[in-house]
Amino acid sequence: VRAKPSRTAQAVAAERAVLTDLGVLDDPFARELLGPAISIVYRIVRRWPHAIPTLPVTLAGLAARVRWHDGHVADALGDGITQVAVIGAGYDSRAWRFARDGVSFFELDHPATQTVKASVAPPAGPVYVAADLRSVDAAEALRRAGLDPEAPAIHVVEGVTMYLAEDVVRRQLSALAEASAPGSRLTIDFYPPSDVGTAGDRRQHRVQRLGRSGSGEDLRLLIDRDGAVELVTSCGWAVAEVVSAREAARRLVPAESGLPRDRVNEHKTAVFAVVRG
Ligand SMILES: C[S@@+](CC[C@H](N)C(=O)[O-])C[C@H]1O[C@@H](n2cnc3c(N)ncnc32)[C@H](O)[C@@H]1O
Repeated sequence: VRAKPSRTAQAVAAERAVLTDLGVLDDPFARELLGPAISIVYRIVRRWPHAIPTLPVTLAGLAARVRWHDGHVADALGDGITQVAVIGAGYDSRAWRFARDGVSFFELDHPATQTVKASVAPPAGPVYVAADLRSVDAAEALRRAGLDPEAPAIHVVEGVTMYLAEDVVRRQLSALAEASAPGSRLTIDFYPPSDVGTAGDRRQHRVQRLGRSGSGEDLRLLIDRDGAVELVTSCGWAVAEVVSAREAARRLVPAESGLPRDRVNEHKTAVFAVVRG
């Protein structure tokens, strides 16, 4: 059982901090969520952006992912949804970036990571829900923490599925669909099998595997686009949008950023789905 705080979640926050410095994202909270170890990496990368040769592609992909999930959260709030549940939240900052009167934010993560997050996070923010997704029903934990199952919610599952076994993802998504009010929404993304894609994709995969080594965060669910759509659909969600990471990068990462949008992995998939009434 992994009891260490998530290193990948810190890495993502560091990348959001770098992307904010580059003017690609606007996440003023990312920098202050970094612990001492990753802060050193962040400062090196800021100074020598090419220290890790695959980093520009990683940054382009992450910028696209954050902006894609953000777009759906903004739409949901614009459409009157007042509950946002971020599952596998890590050092997510949406509870501060999208804060507004009448909207409740929930963040669910493993207790080992959430304790650290809560200790460095700004005041106010989300209702924290500590739960291990392998053994705890997220829908039930969110309900106990105050999420109103009679009112629609948007569930954000960003950069999480790949670290869980397929049966865990299926169980959690099915329970969420079952427990969510009609009109509820889901944003979720998936990694493809590691032998799929270009030589560049495989190189990036190897570099990231190196970065994760010793963290206990191995990749578990790797699934192609059709498989991802089938998975979400068979859990009771009506799929409304399917997009590749490359397509999202072309659409959502400004060309002026200079980031290599066209080299983002086209086999990574993001899915937006709803609970039909
Ligand atoms: C790559 S991080 C992504 C964090 C955040 N969603 C983001 O995009 O910045 C993966 C997250 O999934 C969480 N996670 C992985 N396995 C988990 C489990 N069994 N229970 C709860 N959270 C888990 C980790 O703690 C970590 O915060």
